[in-house]
Amino acid sequence: MEGRQELFVFGTDWNNKPLSELTARIVVAHHDRFRLELPALRGAAREVYACHCHRDFARLAPLPGLLFRLEDELGRHMRREEKTIFPVITALERAAEGREPMAANRCTKSLISATLSEHDDILDLLAEARQMTGNYEPPPNAGEQYRLLLQRFESLDRDLNLHIGMENDSIFSRALSLAHQWQEAHYRV
Ligand SMILES: [Fe+2]
Ligand SMILES: [Fe+2]
Repeated sequence: MEGRQELFVFGTDWNNKPLSELTARIVVAHHDRFRLELPALRGAAREVYACHCHRDFARLAPLPGLLFRLEDELGRHMRREEKTIFPVITALERAAEGREPMAANRCTKSLISATLSEHDDILDLLAEARQMTGNYEPPPNAGEQYRLLLQRFESLDRDLNLHIGMENDSIFSRALSLAHQWQEAHYRV
């Protein structure tokens, strides 16, 4: 956890950092965490449901399914970023610095736009989670395991919002303007 905090320190001007550095930090500080945390959280949600469903069925019954959808959607999204989008962004940046001759094609902007729209879908799932759990507020009779589950879910929500905010504001907006400049320079008729 301490290592993760060092990776993204609040108050740093991330817009001055190279995009390749930011995408590498995103993978280590966020993607790798979600890959570990989401299956564990889904298992914990199933356990809490088994123990407490008789007392709080409406709130607990849909949680494992929602976590499964989040894990599935986020897993595909992160793989696409790591295999396709982040390498494209690194290439764009290298081309803008004159270190690579070719960086983008006509699809680059639409690839990035599709990624932004996937972020909206993920944020919708988090909004659903907040609504489902009453903003992660445990009921008065909740046991320790139940409270811990909601705390972990809330922490994941915060982390995912930070991650998506960082990508939208500090990575994809800069990448879009690089792609736009590249397209202007190469496809102007
Ligand atoms: Fe990401
Ligand atoms: Fe993303």
